[in-house]
Amino acid sequence: MVHKIFIVGGTGAQGMPIVKSLVSDKKYHCRILTRDTTSPRAQELLALGNVELVSGTFANESDLRNGYRGCDGAFVNIDGFNTGEKTETYWAIRAYELALEEEIKFFVYGNLDYGYQLGGYDPKYRCGHYDGKGRMGEWVLFQNQKNQGRMHAALFTTGPYIDMVIGQRTPMMPYVDADGVVTWAVPLGQGAVPHVCLQDCGVYVRWLFENPDEANGINLEVAIEHVAYEELARAFEKVSGHPARFVDVDLDTYWGSKRGIAATADRVSGYNSDAKDAAAMTVRQNFTGFWNLWKNSGGNKGVVRRDYALLDRIHPNRVRSVEEWFRQEEERGLAAGKGSLWERVQEENIRPVLKIAEDGFKGRL
Ligand SMILES: NC(=O)c1ccc[n+]([C@@H]2O[C@H](COP(=O)([O-])OP(=O)(O)OC[C@H]3O[C@@H](n4cnc5c(N)ncnc54)[C@H](OP(=O)(O)O)[C@@H]3O)[C@@H](O)[C@H]2O)c1
Repeated sequence: MVHKIFIVGGTGAQGMPIVKSLVSDKKYHCRILTRDTTSPRAQELLALGNVELVSGTFANESDLRNGYRGCDGAFVNIDGFNTGEKTETYWAIRAYELALEEEIKFFVYGNLDYGYQLGGYDPKYRCGHYDGKGRMGEWVLFQNQKNQGRMHAALFTTGPYIDMVIGQRTPMMPYVDADGVVTWAVPLGQGAVPHVCLQDCGVYVRWLFENPDEANGINLEVAIEHVAYEELARAFEKVSGHPARFVDVDLDTYWGSKRGIAATADRVSGYNSDAKDAAAMTVRQNFTGFWNLWKNSGGNKGVVRRDYALLDRIHPNRVRSVEEWFRQEEERGLAAGKGSLWERVQEENIRPVLKIAEDGFKGRL
C-alpha cells in the first residue's frame, strides 16, 4: 500500500477531484507539482490538509526527481495541450523511468484512448492529444511486464469531461439560439461521446492505489455512459425545464462556426509546441480526429468502448447517466452560487472547465 503520492496535474480539472478524494479522510498525503504554488487552485488544494505543493515542471528531470523522492505512489497526467504530442511522448517516458529510479511503488499514468490504433490506423482518427497518451499508455504497460517486481503500474483512461457540455471554449460548447433553445451543433451524427464524470475520477484513482494486486497492469477505462447528443438534449430539457436540441453538422460547418474551439482552429494544438514542426497539429486537425472517433463510437459498439459492468463493480455509486449528472450539477451549481444549468449556459455566464482555458492557453513548458 502507498501513503504518499506525487501528483502531476493536481491543479487541473482532472487532478483536483483526484487529490480531494485521496486526502478526504487523511489516509493519503499528496505532493503536487505545479508551476505556480500561489495560484488559487494550488492554494485551494493546500487548504485541504495532507497536501504539499512543490514548484516545478514535468519537463525537467530534477523537478521530477525531487517530486518523486520520498513518495511511494505517483499519479501522472501530463498536459498534452501544453506540450503537443511529440514533447509529451518524451516526458511520458522520462516520467515513468524516473519513477523507477526514485523507487515509486505504484505508478498511475493518466491516459486517453489510442484512437488511431483502435480505428485500424485510419488517418481520419489521428488526434494528437489522444494518440500521444494512448501509445505511451501501451508502452507503460509493456515496460511494466519487466519492471513490476520493482514498481507496479496502471493506466487511468478517461475521456471528454461531461462538464465540457456546459463549458466555455470547449469542443462541445453550447449556445442559446434566438428562440431560447440550448443548442449543441457538433459533427457527431449517430455517434456518442463516452463522457467522464470528474468527481468519479477521484474514486477510481483511489481504487487503483488501494487494490495494487488487481490494479497492477490494468487499463482502467472510465466513462459515465456513451452519450448520444439527442439524449443529451432530452436530459438537459428534463432537468432544466428549458428546450434543448442537438444539431448534427458536417466538419466544415463546425469549423466555420467559430464557436468554442472552432475560434482557434488554425492555432497549434499544444501552446508550447512549434507550429513549424512537421509533427505539430493544428487545433482543427487534432479535433477533427477527435470528432471522427466519437462519430464512430455510437452505442458502445464502435471504435472507443467501455466495460460498464466493471465500472459498476469498482464504483457502485458511480454516475450512470448524463441525466443523473445534470441533476447533480444543477444542485451543485445552485449551492455554489453559480446559478442553474439554464443560467450557466447563457453567453454572459458560461465559464471554462479547464485550468488552461482560465490561464488563456499560455504558461511555461
Ligand atoms: N479536457 C478533457 O475533457 C480531457 C479529458 C481527459 C484527459 N484530458 C487530458 O488531460 C490533460 C490536461 O489535464 P486537465 O484536463 O486537468 O487540464 P487543465 O485543467 O487545463 O489542467 C492542466 C494541468 O496541467 C498542469 N501542467 C501544465 N503544464 C505543466 C508543466 N509544464 N509542469 C507541471 N504541470 C503542468 C497544470 O498545473 P499548473 O498550471 O498548476 O502548473 C494543471 O494542473 C491533457 O493532456 C488532456 O489531453 C483532457
